Amino acid sequence: MQAFGIDIGGTGIKGAPVDLASGKLLSDRKKIATPRPATPDAVTEVVKEVTQSFGWTGITGATFPGVVLNGTIRSAANVDKTWIGTDAAALFTKAIGTDVAVLNDADAAGIAEMTFGAGVGVKGSVLMLTFGTGVGSALFTDGVLVRNTEFGHIEIRGKDAEKRAAESAKLEHDWGWKEWTERVSEYLQHVEALISPNLIIVGGGISKESDKWVPMLTGIQAKIVPAALQNDAGIVGAAMAAAGAAAAD
Ligand code: BGC
Repeated sequence: MQAFGIDIGGTGIKGAPVDLASGKLLSDRKKIATPRPATPDAVTEVVKEVTQSFGWTGITGATFPGVVLNGTIRSAANVDKTWIGTDAAALFTKAIGTDVAVLNDADAAGIAEMTFGAGVGVKGSVLMLTFGTGVGSALFTDGVLVRNTEFGHIEIRGKDAEKRAAESAKLEHDWGWKEWTERVSEYLQHVEALISPNLIIVGGGISKESDKWVPMLTGIQAKIVPAALQNDAGIVGAAMAAAGAAAAD
């Protein structure tokens, strides 16, 4: 079975058809720069373009970097605020002409990692964290996802955690690996105190360089591993979530 996955991010909107049995992309992904400002209408146009470039009309899923409840966007920390209250699922469905399931980006990446990546077969609590423009989270207990956790926004030293621990914070403040990793350690210690996961999977672009920072993390009991799917996790998870939603209809 196949489904199409679209990953909507702050810099790019990418999509590809996915083989759901293997979690592999069926062709190279298409990536288009995220329009600025990234308003609902402008992003919808790009989502349509990406899907149409494959002539796709089947099961489709899309990620969004915010809270998504029943297809409607409820938060937009790093994207245009006009998204809040927008029924993204309805908007995309109308534009593409086929049902589109929409879910949080970290939840999608987590679903993919639990099925095809670093979380396969892991029981107990698994926390996937994505470090990018923001910090996204996906929490699983015995493989079941608790949707829309927002552990990137716990408060540390009076600040939104992602302002210190995201990859974007490292770039913005020009922190070296050591300075940034100290902040990530403090962040993970807080998260561990709240939910005591058995395993933490670290994803997002910076997980490609995990050997530079994961070994330097301190004070955390949970096992910490880098994501296995990296760039494709969002696309794969979106396609899987859409296929799941279609099957439940
Ligand atoms: C958002 C989350 C999102 C994460 C990663 C955070 O700022 O609140 O919903 O998953 O960024 O994009």
